[in-house]
Amino acid sequence: SCRFFVGGNWKCNGTVESLKKLVDELNSAKLEEDVDIVVSPPYLYISQVLGSLTKRIEVAAQNCWTGKGGAFTGEISADQLVDGGVKWVIQGHSERRHVIGETDAMIGQKSAYALSKNLGVIACVGEKLEDREANRTTDVVFEQLQAYADAVSDWSNIVVAYEPVWAIGTGKVASPQQAQEVHAAIRQWLKEKISPEVSSKTRIIYGGSVNGANSAELATQEDIDGFLVGGAALKGLEFATICNAVT
Ligand code: 13P
Repeated sequence: SCRFFVGGNWKCNGTVESLKKLVDELNSAKLEEDVDIVVSPPYLYISQVLGSLTKRIEVAAQNCWTGKGGAFTGEISADQLVDGGVKWVIQGHSERRHVIGETDAMIGQKSAYALSKNLGVIACVGEKLEDREANRTTDVVFEQLQAYADAVSDWSNIVVAYEPVWAIGTGKVASPQQAQEVHAAIRQWLKEKISPEVSSKTRIIYGGSVNGANSAELATQEDIDGFLVGGAALKGLEFATICNAVT
């Protein structure tokens, strides 16, 4: 399978002090060689984090503007992220879709522009509880994937993150079987709609209540190539345990 990839999405959390402590913990943690690790601070703290990380950990932004900068109050462009040393950007997180109201079209546009600036894109997809209960899980996930596919042509800098909305921040992690089933469906979709090569090379990571206690078993699943971690990523040692769950 592919090289393991673990992202820590800090969301809208942290202070100068708490993130200094978190970075210190990451700097002193023992981390496996065989894993790509990315942390995603709020914009305000990106340069602090980049300036204090001593480990081989890259930084992702949690969002970016749809295109080039200019008169767009409150936005940050992909060009500015690159200028600031950022390597990745999360797109289509469920909180941006369902709390902020971002559409598939905007998410596609942002992803394409970010890729054109050589940022890696962590492309999130995931169904709500009502979708799962109506047996619409793969319909929803495939629709979201199609919106990325409509906007981008090169998938080599994309990591797909499957994050069922009902599992995010709820403590209700998907079972390894539930996650594997959707990951396998995503891999099959990539094979049919994009290419067999993209299907075998794209990391498909799982997010939603991942922690130090459940990550090892999830990591044994054939099509789980890593994690996108929220709450547990705010604890340095626990995040290190999750990074080291690589199998
Ligand atoms: P939790 O790990 O807190 O459930 O959050 C997952 C997530 O949304 C990562 O992007």
